[in-house]
Amino acid sequence: MKILNFGSLNLDYTYQVSHIVREGETILAKEVGLNLGGKGFNQSVALARAGISCYHAGLVGEEGLDFYDACETYGIKTDYMKTVTGRCGHTIIQVDEKGQNSIVLFGGANQKNSKEYVDEVLKNFDTGDIILLQNEINELPYLIDQAFAKGMTIVLNPSPYDERLEECDLGKISVFLLNETEGQQMTGMTTPATIVAAMAASYSNAKIVLTLGEGGSIYHQGDEELYQAAFEVKAVDTTAAGDTFTGYFVAGLYKKLPVKDILITASKAAALAVTKDGAAKSIPFMSEVELFNID
Ligand code: RIB
Repeated sequence: MKILNFGSLNLDYTYQVSHIVREGETILAKEVGLNLGGKGFNQSVALARAGISCYHAGLVGEEGLDFYDACETYGIKTDYMKTVTGRCGHTIIQVDEKGQNSIVLFGGANQKNSKEYVDEVLKNFDTGDIILLQNEINELPYLIDQAFAKGMTIVLNPSPYDERLEECDLGKISVFLLNETEGQQMTGMTTPATIVAAMAASYSNAKIVLTLGEGGSIYHQGDEELYQAAFEVKAVDTTAAGDTFTGYFVAGLYKKLPVKDILITASKAAALAVTKDGAAKSIPFMSEVELFNID
């Protein structure tokens, strides 16, 4: 069984600020850094750190060639990654003193996927293989339809949520991993319990994982529901915490571990990611996660 992550690769310009800039305001940043990120790339890194080397497919622009070396270093297979002309996807990320962030995303190469490229990649995968998707690339509806037709297990992190997701046949998704904001946007519900109930009613065969930041996470499938508390840490930068959780969760599913254990490991990994700055570079190794023992 193989794992394909068809997802975004972004250059993250991260600014340390006293507070997230308000409308009409200009503020001085204390630091600026350029990091490799993108929800897709971060989740491939998290899979790799959790011990699973996935195939990453996606497009980088001309200034994104560092992603190839980084993938090699992390242990991510780049056979199906491509470079296109024009700008790479990039972000402007503000991180405040509490470690909270706010992100402006420019799609760039991530929005240049074609049906031909999707076909070219998917022909290398088969029934039972896992495909991991987020919502930072175009052609998501086609990807879902084609992966489903092949009998692949589709895991969707509907992040960031926008109206383009409404064009997708979400009944074809096997696993949803989403945060509370995305849950509210998808269901119109406002509390964790009602979001999970609405998701479960709409997608009764799917596994649903709702992450709640400091509030922990909830897993639901059929009659089974589990709650996992978050592990308390001092936040430095919350960027990629959700991606870390997602990558570790999918790695646990791939290893066929009990969901209760997967939730603990994914929660610890996400907590550790929050203690470091940056996106992909903040994602911990499994060995660090195993040593992290705060009750
Ligand atoms: O989830 C974090 C990621 O979201 C960042 O790396 C940034 O690229 C944005 O896509």
